[in-house]
Amino acid sequence: MALYSRITGTGSCLPPQRLSNADLVSKLAAQGVETSDDWIVERTGIRARHFADDGVFSSDLGLVACRAALQAAGLQASDIDLIIVATSTPDMVFPSTACILQHKLGANGGAAFDVQAVCSGFIYALAVADAMLKTGAARKALVVGAEIFSRILDFTDRTTCVLFGDGAGALVLESGSKPGILASDLHADGRHVGILCVPGHVAGGQVLGDPLLKMEGQAVFKLAVGVLEDAAHATLAKADKTASDIDWLIPHQANIRIIQSTARKLKLPMEKVIVTVDQHGNTSAASIPLALDHGIRSGRVKPGQTLMLEGVGGGLAWGAVLLDL
Ligand code: ACO
Repeated sequence: MALYSRITGTGSCLPPQRLSNADLVSKLAAQGVETSDDWIVERTGIRARHFADDGVFSSDLGLVACRAALQAAGLQASDIDLIIVATSTPDMVFPSTACILQHKLGANGGAAFDVQAVCSGFIYALAVADAMLKTGAARKALVVGAEIFSRILDFTDRTTCVLFGDGAGALVLESGSKPGILASDLHADGRHVGILCVPGHVAGGQVLGDPLLKMEGQAVFKLAVGVLEDAAHATLAKADKTASDIDWLIPHQANIRIIQSTARKLKLPMEKVIVTVDQHGNTSAASIPLALDHGIRSGRVKPGQTLMLEGVGGGLAWGAVLLDL
């Protein structure tokens, strides 16, 4: 009997500290950095983001999201035999945030590891989990995106610090005879490492190089629009589907203009797109599972519907997953 993987529960977590654009604009003005609500809304669609308090780590946000996903799936942490965390802001250099999260959940014993593919990390993690469940290497997985980007932002650089937020999203993926995930498509092009990176590294007890996020926004924007369209079409072709089969597009939430452009290229009306970038900002690997959970909990995204999830980010790395919920 062929094995498939299917989502059986989702959850998410936003840290309580919410900063509207007005809050961020005044915080930055106090440091001599000039920006405005108008600029942020017009260029990005972002109106607010959440920042984690000091002492809170990606695993803490992931823990809340995982508990909600487990509850939705009707499972206990002890049922889980695989945890994959997509993050670029891990708790420690090592061990993995997945191992730390596994311990906090009390789900010890199964496989646990991190995936680092920046904003496409959740798509990578979901595709890897799907492959493992289909081969029988695991049966019940937690796939998590958890980020605290506020810790790697340069708050003197207005071109990046207004864009990002913190959060986590998680889903339970279970193997079975009924198809859930239909196809996936992953890519990277390392020639573009320099346009979106945190170049610093740890050596000799110090961070050498710049430990804060650098981005050439326009270069990322132009590449993102093209690769997202390509990944969506490649994934649809693998599943022998067309864009008209998509009930919901749930894209990485970086910029409303990238989201609108992707929807236009797929000839999907914005009514079929889940948008959370206005309230969350760009939460990197957490953005897609956060948007998925919000879509489900708001009652818009329903069982039986066909979803296209896709993301792009540093690397450049990108990918898409098509699934039946
Ligand atoms: N407030 C006010 N003015 C600003 C701000 C700000 N926060 N930031 C930039 N500006 C100014 C610039 O200095 C520039 O001024 P100038 O014309 O006098 O030189 C002007 O606004 C226009 O700047 P652009 O960079 O051309 O603005 P653009 O329309 O390209 O928007 C943005 C910038 C929002 C970053 C956009 O390029 C973008 O979204 N890029 C893609 C980001 C992305 O998708 N990342 C993906 C994944 S993220 C990850 O993997 C971690």
